[in-house]
Amino acid sequence: MARFKDRNIVVTGGASGIGEATVRALVGEGASVVIADLQEDRGHALAEELGESALFLRTDVTAEEDVVAAIALLQERFGALHGMVNNAGVVGAVGSIMETSVEAYERTMSILSRAVFLGIKHAARAMRDNGSGAIVSLASTAGVMGGHGPHVYTMAKHGVVGITRSASSELASLGIRVNAVAPGGVLTPMTENLGQENAREVIAANNPLGVACMPGDIASGILFLLSDDARQISGHTLVIDAGVTTGGQPAAFHLGETATLLQAGETAAG
Ligand SMILES: NC(=O)c1ccc[n+]([C@@H]2O[C@H](COP(=O)([O-])OP(=O)(O)OC[C@H]3O[C@@H](n4cnc5c(N)ncnc54)[C@H](O)[C@@H]3O)[C@@H](O)[C@H]2O)c1
Repeated sequence: MARFKDRNIVVTGGASGIGEATVRALVGEGASVVIADLQEDRGHALAEELGESALFLRTDVTAEEDVVAAIALLQERFGALHGMVNNAGVVGAVGSIMETSVEAYERTMSILSRAVFLGIKHAARAMRDNGSGAIVSLASTAGVMGGHGPHVYTMAKHGVVGITRSASSELASLGIRVNAVAPGGVLTPMTENLGQENAREVIAANNPLGVACMPGDIASGILFLLSDDARQISGHTLVIDAGVTTGGQPAAFHLGETATLLQAGETAAG
């Protein structure tokens, strides 16, 4: 399958985890990719491994000039920008809101929120001349409900869902689609570094399907939204969480041995 033949795509945070899986999948389907990340060793190694279809540029997504430079490198080396994946992220400020400093708040928001604003802004400027393009940003289940992440992370990820809706309405007339993906727990260096020895088991135990969600599972959703398969989808946040945010475990009344048609006035409990 070569859904991305002759497509040029920037992936921020592409040196690790979900971003790395996205880069590998995109190149596997024919794309040329700029990996825009702070991690120089991992970024260079990945680009080298993938060959002429991938370039690495050390990029701090919180700096406007760096985001501009990543897109400019792609245009110079590969041609028009067709896709932008705003994926770079950190857990950021943790702990009680009563103890969270303004500095920790600002730093977290700059990576998780400002960077997505910058990515959409500059991708849209580059794409408007093509008359088409697709942008996908990483939200989280913490972006669609409370209690799934630290406070500032939750605030920022709700913002990603919001800017996705807002920007999609402006950019549709330019042929640019804007979507987001909202993963639940995924086994990546981010979650492996949270201090739990058995991250895979913890993630699997919190997954209604009972298996740990892997970076490639999220990359599949990102590639779908970038592709022409999603040509009528914009402003959407695709939640990929095995059903955690829609109820999680099966409700008891799904488990009866005999299917019973309830009469008016009856309840499942009898
Ligand atoms: N892993 C999960 O369970 C999970 C769940 C929901 C959402 N997400 C989101 O998915 C995205 C990717 O997370 P991941 O789990 O793959 O994490 P990861 O730590 O494996 O990868 C994140 C990458 O972002 C890069 N990065 C961080 N700050 C940067 C900056 N200022 N400039 C450029 N690059 C920077 C890091 O160097 C790293 O390579 C994040 O936005 C995260 O919030 C992850």
